[in-house]
Amino acid sequence: TEAPLESGSAPASALISAPVHRPRRLRRTDALRRMVRETMLTAADLIYPLFVMEGEGQQEEVPSMPGCFRYSLDLLLDEVKAAYDLGIGAIALFPLIPYHQKDNAGTESYNPDGLIPRAVRAIKQAVPQVLVITDVALDPYSSEGHDGIVQDGQILNDETVAVLVKQALAQAEAGADFVAPSDMMDGRVGAIRKALDAEGWINVGILAYSAKYASAYYGPFRDALDSAPKFGDKKTYQMDAANTEEALKEVELDIAEGADIVMVKPALAYLDVICRIKQHTNLPVAAYNVSGEYAMVKAAAQQGWIDEQTVMLETLISMKRAGADVILTYFAKAAALALRERGARKNL
Ligand code: PBG
Repeated sequence: TEAPLESGSAPASALISAPVHRPRRLRRTDALRRMVRETMLTAADLIYPLFVMEGEGQQEEVPSMPGCFRYSLDLLLDEVKAAYDLGIGAIALFPLIPYHQKDNAGTESYNPDGLIPRAVRAIKQAVPQVLVITDVALDPYSSEGHDGIVQDGQILNDETVAVLVKQALAQAEAGADFVAPSDMMDGRVGAIRKALDAEGWINVGILAYSAKYASAYYGPFRDALDSAPKFGDKKTYQMDAANTEEALKEVELDIAEGADIVMVKPALAYLDVICRIKQHTNLPVAAYNVSGEYAMVKAAAQQGWIDEQTVMLETLISMKRAGADVILTYFAKAAALALRERGARKNL
């Protein structure tokens, strides 16, 4: 009954022996695909990074991050509430610091009445259940745009760690649930853990940016905070993009120093690193879907070249599939909304 492939040749059924296994059987319908889906993405997996600035009633879109805003404190609270209502349990805060408050030692970073401590207190009052994560690093506060104190063109390690400790303590004092050192100075996780414990903040956790690479994917974030380095690059403290063994070393050190969650950053170009770290540790692993990854999807979608929602979900699920338990993403709200619309187990 089969039509010949071409005149004179045998019928297809004679050329292909019937396979015993037909994997396509499990792909036949949507319900079936959902049933056997191996990896799941939920709003509870997501951490929403937010940019905060001084002022009232103001929000500014970040030009290289369409749909992402810097919010004054009052509007930030609305955004946090909206995210929490969508099932997003955690936010990460990043400040836009006016230039006149920046200096080489990043002294504004540990001002107890600075923008971040005020934001933490306001959020804890307005949405007490939401987990608040604060970034520990000097760059938003540094006149040099570096994550540490600069001397003769070098980034000082131990002197910087002393400032980071003060910054983490100010954040804990304000009510942060987790502090997240993103600076890549050696020994900072241990120093922060010791200081938190000494001051009685035993329940404040450390989300360590353990494998943080020197990446051009951070460009739009530096636009958002006006924090680009004034000279050079960050390659003497952030990791070389070619390395994985070194990522395992950084993770081991951070765990030994007291990290509660370890992070890989960026995520999309480093899925192999996420995968290896997940196999290497029993701590939760976080992945940071960074600003440049967000910007690329937005830009292509705006051109009509890709389907934004589907690419967004496909990207986020790839990070979970690689082994991430938690994802920081500027898409958090959009993803939570899409997951709600699509319904249970319908991530793709
Ligand atoms: C700074 C910091 C950066 C990001 C998070 N914390 C930028 C940098 O290291 O230059 C980047 C996040 C993103 O690109 O989304 N300590």
